[in-house]
Order: sequence, then structure tokens, then C-alpha cells
Amino acid sequence: MSNDFFKDKADSYEQVTHRVANVENIARAVLGSANLKSGMNIMDFGSGTGLLLEQIAPAVTSITAVDISQSMNAQLEKKRADIKCELEIIEMDLTQSSLDRKFDGIISSMTMHHVDDIAAMFEKFHSMLDTGGFIAIADLVTEDGGFHTEDTGVFHFGFDPDEFLALASDAGFNNVELSVVSTVHKPLADYPVFLLSATA
Ligand SMILES: C[S@@+](CC[C@H](N)C(=O)[O-])C[C@H]1O[C@@H](n2cnc3c(N)ncnc32)[C@H](O)[C@@H]1O
Repeated sequence: MSNDFFKDKADSYEQVTHRVANVENIARAVLGSANLKSGMNIMDFGSGTGLLLEQIAPAVTSITAVDISQSMNAQLEKKRADIKCELEIIEMDLTQSSLDRKFDGIISSMTMHHVDDIAAMFEKFHSMLDTGGFIAIADLVTEDGGFHTEDTGVFHFGFDPDEFLALASDAGFNNVELSVVSTVHKPLADYPVFLLSATA
């Protein structure tokens, strides 16, 4: 993904009610499944405008927001004063570059379908976690291609939950669990969203 696919969407990104509601459901599930604590430093992969991280922030000490999109990062930057933990924003394509550091956990919402090589990304996540660190990754269950109406750099029309879970296990993750935690209601169809959680 070399273009800023969200350039024309960033300004109005949070005006879509079903999008905000979906990430609220995901955040509730992350807060319920991950043992978040003060002192933790976590990364949000594909952080966008910060819809997920702003709800996780009060439970941790710092969040590193990684996103390839300059325009989405600019929206998050505007919200910095309202984010209730330390916040670092890094503009980076995590499929092409790496962050040479370890985190206590990695969260991600609705971003993995923008990544071509899921196995490689799980391996990268694993290498970026301290032993016992967690991942909490939410994305679409396999859909018919109708979810996106514009080209935002989509590689996968959602994921088969069993296949997604197996890729996380193959990368070395333990305690891998997956459940549907949200449904995006669009006029023509409903789209279930899962949360995968696991530990390194
Ligand atoms: C659908 S948005 C989700 C944003 C946010 N997590 C949410 O749930 O509202 C996907 C985000 O992932 C980012 N993204 C896609 N591929 C990426 C990559 N390879 N590295 C970093 N960010 C990426 C996009 O720029 C976009 O902001």
C-alpha cells in the first residue's frame, strides 16, 4: 500500500455511525479480553483517526499509533489532547518497515484486510512482543466484497475465522481465541466482525 487511500475519507471518517459503533463494540471486547494495566506500552496497528486507541488509552500508560496514512494520522493528531495516555504517532507502512522495539501488546481494528501477507504480519507482531505480550486483532468475517464501496487498498474480503486463527498459531502465538464481537449493519447486508486474541 504505497498511496494514502484514506486521503479523501479522513475528514469525514468518524461521521459514519455504523463505523463508530463497530469500533465501540471492538473496544469493549478488547477491554474485556486483554488484561490491560497501567505501565503497559502497546501498539495500535492501522490506528486511523484513533477510534480504537482513544477507548483503550485510559487503561494503559502509552500507545504507539502506527499508520501509513498521513491524512488519518493528521486527524488523530488533532485529538491528541483528549487521548488519556501518552501517545506516539508513527507514519509507517508496517508491511515494508519494522519498529525495532517490543511492546506489551498490539491492538488493531479493521486493518488486516488491507494487508496482503497475513502470515508475515503475524510473525512481525510476534517479534514485536515481549514474552506473554498479547494481540487483540479485529476484522471482518469473510464477506462477499460488498463491504467496501471505494478502493481503499483491500487485499481480503474478510477472513475465514479458522484460517485466520491457524495463521496466528503458526506464527507462534498461544492461547489463541476468536469470537464475533460486532456486526456492521449496512443497508444491503450485515457484516460480522471478529476479535482474535492470543499471547506471545
Ligand atoms: C479501515 S481503517 C481502520 C482505522 C481504525 N483502526 C478504525 O478501526 O477506525 C484502516 C487503517 O489502516 C491503515 N493501514 C492500512 N495498511 C497499512 C499498513 N501496511 N501499515 C500501516 N497502516 C496501514 C490505513 O491507512 C487506515 O488508516
